[in-house]
Amino acid sequence: MKKIVLFVCVALLFGACGSQKKTDETTHTRSLVLYYSQLGSTRQVAKLIKDKVGADIEEITLVTPYDTSFQKTIERCNQDRAAGILPDIHPIQSVLADYDTIYLGYPIWFGTYAPPIASLLREVDFTGKVIVPFCTFGSGGVEASRDSLLQQLPENLVLEGYGVRAARVGAAAAELEPWLIRIEALPGEFVPMPEFTAMKPLTPEAKALFDEACGDYPMPLGTPVGVARCVEPDTNLVCFETHQVRRSGDTSVSFIHVLKSASGKAEFIKVVR
Ligand SMILES: Cc1cc2nc3c(=O)[nH]c(=O)nc-3n(C[C@H](O)[C@H](O)[C@H](O)COP(=O)(O)O)c2cc1C
Repeated sequence: MKKIVLFVCVALLFGACGSQKKTDETTHTRSLVLYYSQLGSTRQVAKLIKDKVGADIEEITLVTPYDTSFQKTIERCNQDRAAGILPDIHPIQSVLADYDTIYLGYPIWFGTYAPPIASLLREVDFTGKVIVPFCTFGSGGVEASRDSLLQQLPENLVLEGYGVRAARVGAAAAELEPWLIRIEALPGEFVPMPEFTAMKPLTPEAKALFDEACGDYPMPLGTPVGVARCVEPDTNLVCFETHQVRRSGDTSVSFIHVLKSASGKAEFIKVVR
């Protein structure tokens, strides 16, 4: 049994490292989509993944659910953090021994996975499981939460994740497929991760594109100072470097992805910090 799990892990590791080949068989057998969603966006993505890979699915639920108000949720999180506690979750019903791969889904809260996932990691033993993170967020992205998972589960293989802004969750149906192929959960033609040119100084046209995509986002995203174009796989994807001066006087640097879609509309995709 251990040998089978090891084999699956090695196969997935090669997939995660980006072998540019067409795969004919799915590698992820016995998969469970396990997710928390407060307002429903992550649930939508979870159901799509379940359907696409033919996995089982379970939602993580709280003993005392968060209020649906953003402000009250922030207040409860702050109180819990000050008290050093995590929210109590109901025990999960799935038998984890039945699964090799766990698609772990969550909203991004405070830059990483929401606290119910921290509760789950505290209570459930994921030894030997391949973890596939996915999330929804206001601005972004999946990267920092994957790093947190790697820290929490140093012995596990944590694959490249998928994330989408809640405001454009409708795009997930199309975006999931290339990601699932890349991690070898689905057969198909490999689509590489975006590759950008070096940063160049911002032009007035690029600034107009940034403003069109991000102008109505309610939180500060910083001032754009540079722009890089994606060379592969989608030349309509653009990355902006933005600078924002913190209260401490330090400057924080962010990278903001914007897509100029076929219809001509500029879409704010995510922030990578
Ligand atoms: C308490 C709280 C903190 C949040 N923090 C972040 C954040 O740090 N970054 C971000 O991009 N979005 C943040 N969001 C927005 C959520 O990630 C986003 O609305 C998500 O899609 C909600 O998923 P759900 O509909 O599955 O609950 C936060 C939302 C809440 C309620």
